[in-house]
Amino acid sequence: MKRNANGRQSLRGRFITFEGSEGAGKSTQVSLLVQVLRRAGIVNPLATREPGGSAGAESIRRLLIGGEPGQWDGITDALLHCAARRDHLVRTIWPALAGGRWVVCDRFTDSTLAYQGSGQGVDIAQLRALVAIVAGDFAPDLTIILNLPPKVGLERAIARENLSHRLNGHDTAKSTRYEKMDFSFHLRLARALHAIAAAEPNRCVMVDATHDIPTVHAAVRRAVAERLGVDLFVQPQKEKGSQDHARRIKKSNTENVFPTASRGESGPSWPRSS
Ligand code: TMP
Repeated sequence: MKRNANGRQSLRGRFITFEGSEGAGKSTQVSLLVQVLRRAGIVNPLATREPGGSAGAESIRRLLIGGEPGQWDGITDALLHCAARRDHLVRTIWPALAGGRWVVCDRFTDSTLAYQGSGQGVDIAQLRALVAIVAGDFAPDLTIILNLPPKVGLERAIARENLSHRLNGHDTAKSTRYEKMDFSFHLRLARALHAIAAAEPNRCVMVDATHDIPTVHAAVRRAVAERLGVDLFVQPQKEKGSQDHARRIKKSNTENVFPTASRGESGPSWPRSS
């Protein structure tokens, strides 16, 4: 049995998900949150992502994000995302939570409802049924939705691609199939994320992602602290720790504004199934 940061005993870790439209900065915020969780005394928190997060799901990811927008129809897309999610749950997420680890995941079922439902027009009731087959009634303890106007997010995604091209001479941050969808698709999914946040205020917190990385991170930290009752504003060794922390955030802000982490192949190593 593990103790959480407040010294309370918990049988399983907490499951936090990030959602947002393209270019909202989820992967950066996932890794910053995991750093502060660790500093707060949470043992070995896990950063993971969807589609992906296990060997099988990473293979399915490659089928999903490459190619042209019309490569799969919405239902095929949904089935592939759900197959990837099942493998990710069974091999990575559930074992980690059962072992008392906290899991922070870049995208989860809300993305299926927003992208395949509102974006690609798949019937929401059918999607909910599919999600229930895959995950039962398992749901995040907290979902942070990074809110960014789609136009700003897509511009960030293009800038990230150009930056990667300049730095590497080739596109390590190539547009995904979803970024290539037309603008009305991105508007629909942004609206869907708003609707999810409004429908489930106990689970979801909307964070304004138009600000710089440290400001967004501070809002994320506040949300996690308030909703999950964990002290993320750790004091001791504090002065030095928080200065280091501020430096790290600043560094990631200047060096990694549009990280390649969520792109796939060239990002950090994501958990593999054992
Ligand atoms: P990422 O670039 O945020 O890592 O995600 C890859 C793409 O997959 C992203 O454009 C959103 C899309 N996606 C869906 O369409 N449905 C889903 O269920 C998930 C998890 C992601």
